[in-house]
Amino acid sequence: MPGIPMRNGGAKARIAVIPGDGIGAEVTPEAVKVLKAVCAPASRTLEFVEFDWGADKFLREGVTLPLGAVEMLRDEFDAILFGALGDPRVLSNQHAADILLGLRFKLDLYVNARPVELLHDRLTPLRDRTEKDIRLIVFRENTEGLYVGVGGTFKQGTPDEIAVQEDVNSRKGVERIIRYAFEYARENGLKRVCMSDKSNAMTFAHGLWQRVFKEVRQEYTDIDSRHLFIDTLAMEIVRDPRQFDVIVTCNLFGDIISDLGAQLAGGLGLAPSGNIHPGRTSLFEPVHGSAPNITGKGTANPLGSVLTSAMMVEFLGWKTEAAAIRTAVRAALRENSVTPDLGGKKNTAEVGDWLARFMEKSSHAQPFK
Ligand code: NAD
Ligand code: IPM
Ligand code: MN
Repeated sequence: MPGIPMRNGGAKARIAVIPGDGIGAEVTPEAVKVLKAVCAPASRTLEFVEFDWGADKFLREGVTLPLGAVEMLRDEFDAILFGALGDPRVLSNQHAADILLGLRFKLDLYVNARPVELLHDRLTPLRDRTEKDIRLIVFRENTEGLYVGVGGTFKQGTPDEIAVQEDVNSRKGVERIIRYAFEYARENGLKRVCMSDKSNAMTFAHGLWQRVFKEVRQEYTDIDSRHLFIDTLAMEIVRDPRQFDVIVTCNLFGDIISDLGAQLAGGLGLAPSGNIHPGRTSLFEPVHGSAPNITGKGTANPLGSVLTSAMMVEFLGWKTEAAAIRTAVRAALRENSVTPDLGGKKNTAEVGDWLARFMEKSSHAQPFK
């Protein structure tokens, strides 16, 4: 997907790498491998600094997001390449909340960009759909909603127990993500924006989304804007994904619809995402989680992380490198040099090696820069 706003634009960038838990630690090194390969022939330098934040450190030291980490990432790094967090030993998921949601909130990464792009016809479960039919992007509000952790329990552990989780929506928060979706559409020549909410039931919280959407859309009369309730969107995106270019929605619905979208384009193993504040240090991660059910087996698909790294270098302003990474991924899909989830026989590292070799060969034939 084109048009992710620039952070750096120069020839050098510093990347914080947080592989995290489970398959996060298996796929992230493959993305780094590919990034190194794509930068080698170009006049680009990436400096990687790895951080061991995750379940092991939390269980060992009680530390989740270390003191001063947010400021360090903000001031010393251009971007963060993130794997996944989540470990069956940490039932509370405390470390993931502190680290992942903590970084989204504290770095104010209000845009969660989750492209859904079919890269090979055989990968979609939808009958008779091809690459040209499935190409859209979900913009998920990423700093508020039901994720902010406002709430509590009362009489916990008794038959009268009550649990409350508040849905927090600010005028500023709703407006900036809706506006971002329209701006993205306009800048990238996309003609349609669909805002999705549940304002028929959540009349207060999503009534605000309705009011803001009606106001902002008036500034973008060149864009065909439309509203769908989230249940209808889930149905429509499966029935006919060709209807959609840009979807904008709240935090929780964006989480759900992006997994649904991922499956339409080949599954979670292939889906990339960016947590972005335009112009500031931003965090890039595959859409999938730590997948404890396949951790340690060597079958984790690294392509989601690799495509994530393409989004990251695009954010740095390195369009040629982003395109080279995507070309390599398409080639791997074409030649079935992929992991078992996509019907291939390669393991995680073999896919990374294949991509790196592909880069080497292509750069000899035609240097990226
Ligand atoms: P998951 O995304 O980890 O896995 C869902 C299913 O997809 C599993 O069957 C898994 O094997 C498969 N899968 C996911 N990624 C794959 C890949 N790269 N290659 C092949 N198969 C892949 O979701 P889950 O099982 O609901 O969650 C597991 C843990 O991950 C939980 O602790 C959850 O909170 C966490 N999680 C973290 C993030 C994140 O860090 N961004 C995202 C989602 C879930
Ligand atoms: C995602 C994940 C996270 C989310 C979890 C791990 C909190 O599912 O990044 O999609 O819901 O945002
Ligand atoms: Mn999710």
